[in-house]
Amino acid sequence: MAIHQILQYPDERLHTIANKVSAVTETTRKFINDMAETMYAAPGIGLAATQVDVHQCIIVVDASETHDKLIAFINPELIACSGESECEEGCLSVPGIYEKVRRAKKITVRALNVEGETFTLDAEGLLAVCIQHEMDHLQGKVFVEYLSHLKQTRIRSKLKKRRRETM
Ligand code: NI
Repeated sequence: MAIHQILQYPDERLHTIANKVSAVTETTRKFINDMAETMYAAPGIGLAATQVDVHQCIIVVDASETHDKLIAFINPELIACSGESECEEGCLSVPGIYEKVRRAKKITVRALNVEGETFTLDAEGLLAVCIQHEMDHLQGKVFVEYLSHLKQTRIRSKLKKRRRETM
């Protein structure tokens, strides 16, 4: 297993649109293990392949309190969503920034599992937020892009300043 480096906003590569996985292979499974290791080490509750500069439709999430309920989604699709909820979100690509984002409250996702089999999952609460957040990454969207331009500009300059200070 290996820990991958996580791209940091505002890195242009975070805006890449991911390609569908055409076949789930041993290489896919190895990569998913690496993604899980990278996510848990960060630590985080979700990670999209986009964030480690691999532009394939793969996300991993674990919104459990015990950190032992990993779910991997290959080629995830939202097939139903309802309600609305606003939740404070963070992102491993935008360290130290937490902002409220409005999303669907309940969702149904269809995806392939690591065996290449189709499954559907109903989610709500933190898990639903997390899945929607990670699926956005696959479309090249970072959660801060839901915020006002003023806030986005502030966040970018804050992160750039912080990076200069730690170099
Ligand atoms: Ni994120």
